[in-house]
Amino acid sequence: MKREIGMDSAELLYENWPGQFDSFSHMEFACSIPQVLFLISTVKPNGKPNLCFHSWSSFGGDAGGYFAVMQNVAHITHTYQNIVREGEFCINFVSADYYSNCIATIINNSIIDDEFEAGNFTLEKSLKIKTPRVKQSFMSLECQLACNVDLSRMGINSMIIGRVVNAAIEEKYIEGVDKRYGKEGFMFNIHEPADYATGQLNDTHVASLEVLGSYAEMKNNPLGS
Ligand SMILES: Cc1cc2nc3c(=O)[nH]c(=O)nc-3n(C[C@H](O)[C@H](O)[C@H](O)COP(=O)(O)O)c2cc1C
Repeated sequence: MKREIGMDSAELLYENWPGQFDSFSHMEFACSIPQVLFLISTVKPNGKPNLCFHSWSSFGGDAGGYFAVMQNVAHITHTYQNIVREGEFCINFVSADYYSNCIATIINNSIIDDEFEAGNFTLEKSLKIKTPRVKQSFMSLECQLACNVDLSRMGINSMIIGRVVNAAIEEKYIEGVDKRYGKEGFMFNIHEPADYATGQLNDTHVASLEVLGSYAEMKNNPLGS
């Protein structure tokens, strides 16, 4: 049996903090779709490098370009203001080994903080943009701002779309066995999934991928069935 959850079903859940369902749709916790995690690097107005731990996103394109779509960039963040002002940013994927370093960039988040230093990350020059990359990142996407839309028209978040102008990928991640799809690769955010038996939101969890099989294996014999 399936449970139907509408946009008016927020009262079935308890917020973990006041205003949580204003900053996030309650659907976020009902659906709790895993999202790849990365650091967005930008530059503050005083020239100091900024980092923002970020989740909501997707990636795609065609012959006309490859685009990074970040559905929720909060207007209150330095990152949003830096992207709008500078017209560029860099997406840096790091493995879960760096989770606590990423959190340190949130704790040390004032305008005077060098957030690379705060997270113990190293600056690396980008090839096509002025914004620096994170050296510890196994894949960085240098982006120019292509689109900025406030989807909900509430002035809370914007969907920022970046046109990828260069990708820098660590060689050992794309030669031989691809390390991107295991514990040393992409990390994912499982954001407070809701328990509808109690109405409580569970803790946020961090995940990585487990590859189950190739396309050829799966199409003929999914999981050995
Ligand atoms: C796991 C995790 C994921 C996050 N994802 C986002 C996100 O997708 N969008 C966003 O605006 N903030 C997100 N945040 C919050 C920002 O990281 C946080 O507000 C940060 O301090 C903003 O940095 P800035 O002001 O230097 O830009 C996330 C935080 C965590 C812990």
